[in-house]
Amino acid sequence: MPYSLGIDLGTSGVKIVLVTIEGEIVKEVLKTYPIYYPKSGWAEQNPEDWWHSVKEGIKEILADVGSSQIIGIGVSGQMHGLVLIDKHGDSLLPCILWNDQRSYKETEYLNHEIGKNRLIDLTGNIAFPGFTAPKLLWVQNNYPHLFEKTKYICLPKDYINYKLTGQLFTDVSDASGTLYFDVKNRKWSEEMMGILRINKDMIPKVYESYEVVGRTKNSLSQELNIPIHTPVIAGAGDNAAAAVGASVIEEGTIMISLGTSGVVFTPQSKYSSDHQARLHTFCDGNKQWHTMGVILSAASSLKWWVEEIQKESYDTLLEEATQSPAGSKGLFFLPYLSGERTPYNDPYAKGTFIGLSHQHSRGDMTRAVLEGITFALNDAFKAGAELDIPISRVRALGGGSKSDLWLQIIADVFGKPVEHCISTGGPALGAALLVLRGGKIKNNDENVKNVTPINKVVKPDRKKHQDYQLYYNQFKKLYKHLQKAFKEISTLIE
Ligand code: XUL
Repeated sequence: MPYSLGIDLGTSGVKIVLVTIEGEIVKEVLKTYPIYYPKSGWAEQNPEDWWHSVKEGIKEILADVGSSQIIGIGVSGQMHGLVLIDKHGDSLLPCILWNDQRSYKETEYLNHEIGKNRLIDLTGNIAFPGFTAPKLLWVQNNYPHLFEKTKYICLPKDYINYKLTGQLFTDVSDASGTLYFDVKNRKWSEEMMGILRINKDMIPKVYESYEVVGRTKNSLSQELNIPIHTPVIAGAGDNAAAAVGASVIEEGTIMISLGTSGVVFTPQSKYSSDHQARLHTFCDGNKQWHTMGVILSAASSLKWWVEEIQKESYDTLLEEATQSPAGSKGLFFLPYLSGERTPYNDPYAKGTFIGLSHQHSRGDMTRAVLEGITFALNDAFKAGAELDIPISRVRALGGGSKSDLWLQIIADVFGKPVEHCISTGGPALGAALLVLRGGKIKNNDENVKNVTPINKVVKPDRKKHQDYQLYYNQFKKLYKHLQKAFKEISTLIE
């Protein structure tokens, strides 16, 4: 049977899925790799760790499938990360990740010296420390000798495609997150390249996500058990790929992704940018656009609380949290463990419990974590709602969506029914489906029908929705009260 191979280079690990031409997942493999936090606000990964895990994962998933059966490979990945490659094809420094905040000065320079309006005109977006352009300036300012040795600049998943094919290419959705891409016209921005002092030989050629643009290297056929010269598509940023996998393609349905980051993804049939620039405006994997609100610590806040602080099982802690009432008895959690992007663009913001008293239990604290993340997502949801795109369905996916309690909190806070996708494929499934489209085996309408069964719809409780409006308003005020203190604390630990 022919299969498509989808690879998602995530932040906590790489997920690989084997998908039939009907769009069904028959096998999946996950390989994890470390993330390093060498200083407060920094987050890095080693591109060699990614490549090693991708190779191990491909070998494992293909162990019992005839090698001639792979019709193509699609790679999606964590967006924005800066990978610099030297003339020998090796990476020059650890990848600076999407949630790294070190380039806050360069971000200020871009937003204030170049100016937000000009950036929006050129790229559809303003600068955030997570985006690639400020990171590039940071390397130029701090490691000029490494920048001099740089032959190519690329994004995380493009590095994997480079290793697979020996060619450097990218796609429009991932390129959108660099801040040197003209999102409206789906091409690199020459003016931004001038501002960043880079030339077009240093950056990949850009294609639509589903286009077949490379073939695997000869040397990999034997090592990985893949057919010689397997077609490789341009691929997609993880959120655009997840939207394809969850059939969130047309206006009216939005996607909430509860991964390391939390994303509210709204498809748009026409280009339009958020003039307050709280939301990102990016190309999608289907020749259209989308807006995206991104919070930096979603499931990663829960992971921090459960695995690092409580060192308890998720089941125990989530069960305790279901015993706690909506609003966690007046306890709030601000989930800004890595600073925050939407809506504040504040690298100094910090995680906080506020409102603690003797009456609070651990269950209240766990519930406050879930509610705090959901309130932060509600900021993105509300900003999206102002763009005048009517929303009829909310579809949740990602690791966090496995929790019924969390889905209920989202339905109650947003006041909308929340559909839960049965598939665990996420962006890897989307990448595999894009291969089918690139090979003209399936179009996206068919994907909509066949691939994303919804296993449940969680309905909002009207009373709780009303109560949550009060808690949400209080949550928003807390950030305003604490904003100055967060900055002061940052200077203490610099
Ligand atoms: C999107 C973003 C994250 C990463 C990591 O703008 O920064 O969602 O793609 O998954």
